[in-house]
Amino acid sequence: MSILVTGGTGYIGSHTVVELLNENKEVIIIDNLCNSSKDVLEKIEKITGKKCKFYEADIRDEKALEKIFNENKIESVIHFAGLKGVGESVEIPLEYYDNNVYGTIKLLEAMKKFGCKKIVFSSSATVYGDPGTPKYVEEMGRGKASSPYGATKAVIEEMLENLYASDKEWTISILRYFNPIGAHESGLIGENPNGIPNNLMPYIQKVAAGELKELSVFGNDYDTKDGTGVRDYIHVVDLAIGHVKALEKLTKPGVYIHNLGTGCGYSVLDIVNTFERVNNVKVNYKIAPRRPGDLAMYYADPTKAKKELGWEAKRGIEEMCRDSWNFVKNK
Ligand code: NAD
Ligand code: UFG
Repeated sequence: MSILVTGGTGYIGSHTVVELLNENKEVIIIDNLCNSSKDVLEKIEKITGKKCKFYEADIRDEKALEKIFNENKIESVIHFAGLKGVGESVEIPLEYYDNNVYGTIKLLEAMKKFGCKKIVFSSSATVYGDPGTPKYVEEMGRGKASSPYGATKAVIEEMLENLYASDKEWTISILRYFNPIGAHESGLIGENPNGIPNNLMPYIQKVAAGELKELSVFGNDYDTKDGTGVRDYIHVVDLAIGHVKALEKLTKPGVYIHNLGTGCGYSVLDIVNTFERVNNVKVNYKIAPRRPGDLAMYYADPTKAKKELGWEAKRGIEEMCRDSWNFVKNK
């Protein structure tokens, strides 16, 4: 029996595939390579000494999905495939709904057709909206989405709940990620966005490497310890392990929602300073205006994941900064 990983050559997907192979699971990847490259497959093999089957295809392609389900015995799906640019989603919302929502519908239809009713879905802390308190607990429910990207995640969560309500055989895990950074300790896989990055860590990496002049710190007048925005950064390997644990615990039908975060908040300047210190490099920055749509501070309450999945993040901020830089140096 195999696990189908959609978006498995992407940033979080590739790290999760490594952890699944380390647990001797059979893994099949479907990815259309719109934001990743085939080289990742060799890297995964190098790290684990194991191979996984790869289909270059789009999850919206019904025929391709049928072929995959026909050719393999798929027991469960971990669903990462999707577009993830918050800013980009404001520019091209229809593409986001098409890829993320319609893509998930096609995937769920194929799963249903082939009697595979177990799925782990990549959601995001963004579905909480702005609940007015920095510590996000699963029971708070979904708030108003601040971007079309966030709206697609909220719609998919709701769709999965509706699906379970209609058919009590579905076993569904919704994982709400906080801010994944870092890379595999081998330095072979990590996050490698094209063009000018939007997210903090990829931007810092490019400044440290001399590819970009300086980081703009978006606001230093928030009500936080040093005035800069605070987030719950989580090492991507901890996040990947969270998926393995979630899948292991998916033994009874239902919809299970868990935060995957560390529970600690770090400011932008904490990240910059730690990155400089542990890697002995300079990260030039300037203070810039606040970025529209940003919240001052939020972090996970990780209690539910610890209690129900037996999972907690182990890697600290220093490892996150070290491994992020190690990946860049290794490229
Ligand atoms: P990523 O872009 O590195 O990985 C996504 C992968 O999906 C890519 O390899 C891309 O080629 C593939 N893909 C996209 N659309 C596809 C389609 N229609 N068919 C087949 N493959 C397709 O992104 P990531 O950071 O690894 O994120 C994985 C998931 O986690 C996404 O759903 C994302 O929204 C979610 N998430 C990410 C973050 C984050 O900060 N990285 C935070 C919260 C949630
Ligand atoms: N930041 C800067 N300068 C930059 C980039 C970011 O100061 O060049 C700051 C932001 O203002 C924020 C922090 O760094 O305070 C983190 O910003 P990111 O863009 O890295 O991440 P976000 O918290 O905005 O969003 C991330 C993901 C979303 C996801 C959300 C969920 O990008 O996909 O977490 O928590 F929805």
